[in-house]
Amino acid sequence: MKLIAIAALSTLGWLVANSAHAQKTSVQSIEEYRQMLQDGNPADLFEAKGEGLWKKKRGPKNASLEQCDLGKGPGVYKGAFLELPRFFVDTNRVQDLESRLLTCMETLQGLNAADIAKTPFGKDEQNNVTALATWLAAESKDGQFKLPQSHPQEKISYEVGKRLFFQRGGTHDFSCASCHSKDGTRIRLQDLPTLTKNPGDGVGFAAWPAYRVSNGQMWGMQQRLNDCYRQQRFPYPGFGSEATIALGVYLGVNSQGAKSAAPTIKR
Ligand code: HEC
Repeated sequence: MKLIAIAALSTLGWLVANSAHAQKTSVQSIEEYRQMLQDGNPADLFEAKGEGLWKKKRGPKNASLEQCDLGKGPGVYKGAFLELPRFFVDTNRVQDLESRLLTCMETLQGLNAADIAKTPFGKDEQNNVTALATWLAAESKDGQFKLPQSHPQEKISYEVGKRLFFQRGGTHDFSCASCHSKDGTRIRLQDLPTLTKNPGDGVGFAAWPAYRVSNGQMWGMQQRLNDCYRQQRFPYPGFGSEATIALGVYLGVNSQGAKSAAPTIKR
């Protein structure tokens, strides 16, 4: 029912937005459309699934994820999302929420993390990772981002992310900065947040995972980055790769102090 309502709203929203565009009030109309969307976010369904998956005994080891250490100690999940990506001693690397979930799925449940990382978005265990990330983000909703930057690896990761953000290349010589470093820019009707600084509460880094009305899919940050690499005409560096995590550190540290709105709903 909810999904049908959302689909109807979405169509209506575009009609309003498109006709109003001609009357020079498109920005206001889009804002109204966005507010209308907030009334029913199908992300709720993914949250419920994610919570179930966290508690369910699964995999060759028939174990739940309840002892997963997301950075605040085994089993502590409230607030963990606001401090990721961060350095983990056991894996000796900086990890974001999604790559850390793969670690827990492997060590606690006996699932194969490399296989899951290779699975296309929207398929099999990837769907479970997205649902888990959605629920875990929801458990930290409205908290402020405070990514740790005290470990040397965390600082290096930020610097790597910054360089990747400005790295130009590909057929169009684009970098992330080509689309995300000037205030007030848009592609068609989509606002392009400035990600070289704090873009504000619930914007950019602070908005994902998000439910995307246009294709009816729930996307985590890794898929958001994947799609922006596509827009950049670059090959994707791989799910949970050092490069995507470094970009997460760069965006997350830039968003320090911003309020997390994830999971959000996007056009
Ligand atoms: C060709 C332009 C383009 C390039 C290059 C690009 N993006 Fe994007 N990005 C977009 C568009 C358009 C959206 C909004 C998409 C939508 O609404 O579906 C977006 C959305 C985002 C968002 C979510 C913003 C929000 O508030 O929801 C993030 C984060 C992001 N991009 C990061 C990046 C990063 C990191 C890179 C470099 C790897 C990058 N983008 C490269 C066009 C681009």
